[in-house]
Order: sequence, then structure tokens, then C-alpha cells
Amino acid sequence: MTAHIIDGNLLSKKLRSEVAERAAALAAKGRRPGLAVVLVGDNPASQVYVRNKIKACEDNGIHSVLEKYDASFSEAELLARVAALNKDPQIHGILVQLPLPAHIDSHKVIEAIAAEKDVDGFHISNAGLLMTGQPLFRPCTPYGVMKMLESINYPIRGAHAVVIGASNIVGKPQAMLLLQAGATVTLCNSKTRDLGHHTRDADILVVATGKRNIVTADMVKPGAVVIDVGMNRDDAGKLCGDVDYGPCAEVAGWITPVPGGVGPMTITMLLVNTIEAAERY
Ligand code: GUN
Repeated sequence: MTAHIIDGNLLSKKLRSEVAERAAALAAKGRRPGLAVVLVGDNPASQVYVRNKIKACEDNGIHSVLEKYDASFSEAELLARVAALNKDPQIHGILVQLPLPAHIDSHKVIEAIAAEKDVDGFHISNAGLLMTGQPLFRPCTPYGVMKMLESINYPIRGAHAVVIGASNIVGKPQAMLLLQAGATVTLCNSKTRDLGHHTRDADILVVATGKRNIVTADMVKPGAVVIDVGMNRDDAGKLCGDVDYGPCAEVAGWITPVPGGVGPMTITMLLVNTIEAAERY
């Protein structure tokens, strides 16, 4: 079997054109949607992510503001900036890029963002709303994964979904969204014994560990959907995911590539959340 590819660039293109239409409709009513992106420090990966987010806004009619501060920026200064953005009527969404430098308490900063502008969906109120099945904002990466499953009309109800990685950004909200869509969910973490025992029974396998090749072909159920959230570099410096792509694609029914899979979808769902925030404002 050779898996069908779920193309995140292609799906993003379609969804982004819908975003651009909604942005234009809002702008025509005098409410140009606005996103503020705050970056503290010089993490090279964060710089790339942030640049891509700003560019995606520009390309789709969303006003964006990038606030960059050096690594010595204090927690108090950052909290003051967040408070100012909360009050700014031009700004409907606020994103503070993670990770933050070690001297800043990221929980404190996330809780300082107004929940109705928290387009990442990381605020404790938004996590609670998601948990209880009444989401205001769905975190962008797991939301993008759900859109990918929707794009292939995958019958999630009753399926066994296995998520590897239990972060607040991806794994936990992913498990919640799959559960609410009717899947039976197994959430694995770095301490899970015999990972393959779980993955071999997965109809849907979502991998978000940051560990290259953690999923090998012998761990994949024939015909399964394999969604790779990983973003790593191989020995030659080339971008790759968490899944041993070539051999796994011989076993899976559907698979997402890296690059060109989940990555563009994360940014696309950030745009969608920003539009929703501006429409609700
Ligand atoms: N760092 C890695 N992924 C994300 C994300 O989706 N949002 C933010 N704010 N920081 C991140």
C-alpha cells in the first residue's frame, strides 16, 4: 500500500482564501482584523515561525503588528505590553510566541492575555472551555489536524485515535478535540511503555514529540491515518518530522508530509481564529 498524502499547503490555500474573503468583508465594515505577535529573545526557530505568521497575515488581509524584544526584557515589561494590547481596539488577537526566556513565567503571561483575544487558545479559561466542549478558540495545531481529517472525510466517530505527546499546545487539546468528535482516545507520553503496542491499534495516529523517527513502519496499522506534527532536522540539515516517512507511507492509508503538512495548517488556523476574534469583537 502507498498512502495518500494529505497536502497541508493545498488545504491551507483553500482555507486562506476563505479567510481573505472574511477579512475583506470585515474591513468593508470598518473593522480590519488585527493580530499582535510578541517575540522575546532570539530563538532561531521562533524567529522563523513568527516571520511566517506575519507574512500569512499580510497575504490575507489581516493587519499585523510584530513586537520584538531582546532576551533581557523583563516579565513586568512583557505583562505591561500584554495589558496595552488587551485594550487596543485595532488588535483582535494576541499571540506571545513560546518558549519565553527562562526568567519569564509563561503561565503568568498567557493568563494576562484577554481570553477573547487569546487566538492561540492557551488561556486557562479557553483550555477549560475546550475541555467542557464549548470551545471559544481551539489551539491552532490540533485544530488544523481536525481540518485535515475533515478534508478526507475520515469517519472519526468510533475510531481509535492515538496521540503521542501530551503538551498543552498540541497533545492534550488534540486528545480533547478527537474525543469530542467521537473517537476513543489513547494519549501517550514520554514514559509510555511499549509505544508500538498502542500505535499498532491506531486508526488515527497523531505524533507530536519532537523526536525524529519515533514512529517506524512496524508501529503503524495498515491503512491508518498518520499525522506528523514534528519539526526536526535530519543529519543533512533537512526538515523532517517525527515519523519515518518513506517506510510508514508504504503501510499507512493517509499520511502528512514534513514540510508541507501540519506546519502550514497551524498558521492557517491562527488566521481563522483571528478572523473569528475580530467578527466577535
Ligand atoms: N510555539 C510553538 N508553537 C506555538 C504556537 O502555536 N503558539 C505560540 N504562541 N507559541 C508556539
